[in-house]
Amino acid sequence: MHRIIIDCDPGHDDMAAILLAAWHPSIQLEAITAVCGNAPLHHTTNNALRIVDAFGLDVPVYAGAELPLLHRYAFPAEFHGPSGLDSAGEELPPARSKAQPQHAVDAIIERVEAAPGEITLVVVGPMTNIALALALRPGLAQKIKQVIFMGGSAGEGNVTAAAEFNIWADAEAARMVFRSGVKLVMFGLNVTHQTLMRREDVAQIRAARAGSNPVADIMDFYCGTYYSFAGADKPGAPMHDPCAVAYLIDPSIFELTAYPGEVLVGADGGYGQTLIDLRPQDPAHDQRVKNVTVAMKADPQRFAALVTQALSWAAGR
Ligand code: BDR
Ligand code: CA
Repeated sequence: MHRIIIDCDPGHDDMAAILLAAWHPSIQLEAITAVCGNAPLHHTTNNALRIVDAFGLDVPVYAGAELPLLHRYAFPAEFHGPSGLDSAGEELPPARSKAQPQHAVDAIIERVEAAPGEITLVVVGPMTNIALALALRPGLAQKIKQVIFMGGSAGEGNVTAAAEFNIWADAEAARMVFRSGVKLVMFGLNVTHQTLMRREDVAQIRAARAGSNPVADIMDFYCGTYYSFAGADKPGAPMHDPCAVAYLIDPSIFELTAYPGEVLVGADGGYGQTLIDLRPQDPAHDQRVKNVTVAMKADPQRFAALVTQALSWAAGR
């Protein structure tokens, strides 16, 4: 059983990651911590609450950082809508439950310290909450089982030529996490551009429920915004965030390699780039620390089957 906390900024693909974790019996989803990212914190927290309420998940939601450490940017409403979880049809109902009174950063610290070496952090938004937790408790890195994150790239960026959104949104936080010594497993754009939500997957999710189907409508919005800028000829839209959960459920879907990795925080267009040192390494002489295990390849069919099953289950609830 994998005991996890999902740290997220829902977010359409964040919702898919949460539902995948809630659906699969090998995962124990113990908390959801929200951060600003795709939308302001009040929206991402509210969206996490709407998700747990709509699908009957018994998972506490905590609100985290309202702003990145240093970086200031306009929220990317063009991809997830102003709410962060816009729909092409029916929306999820308004939240009935409330966020926990404890701050997300304190909740992460408390939960990790209560079970050293047992809790996996699945981080699918900017890394602000994790960096703050590590700054408050420097020894925490050794008590976290692992940080499996969606962010960065061992290739092209999306928000800039070099940078992926989650890392770019708070590159200083990501740099702190990369340098902390915590065990890191990275799902960057180089692999999430192989793991798609295809038109046939959305059709299957729609077929799981007669009548209204907010899950399929929300996925239609996400795919629609992607096609509108990447081209309608694309076979599907990247399902970034569920990769981090799919890896826990079935690691054989992915091929991973350990590399030295750093997050760039300087100017000249490199801000937020994950610089993964892909050079061949001579084990006899190499002193470089391979601090990040990077997913390099995915099996798109098996990934799509897993996510589609989970979202069909959710649609039918
Ligand atoms: C990441 O940014 C957000 O738009 C998605 O939710 C994902 O976490 C992809 O770059
Ligand atoms: Ca996200």
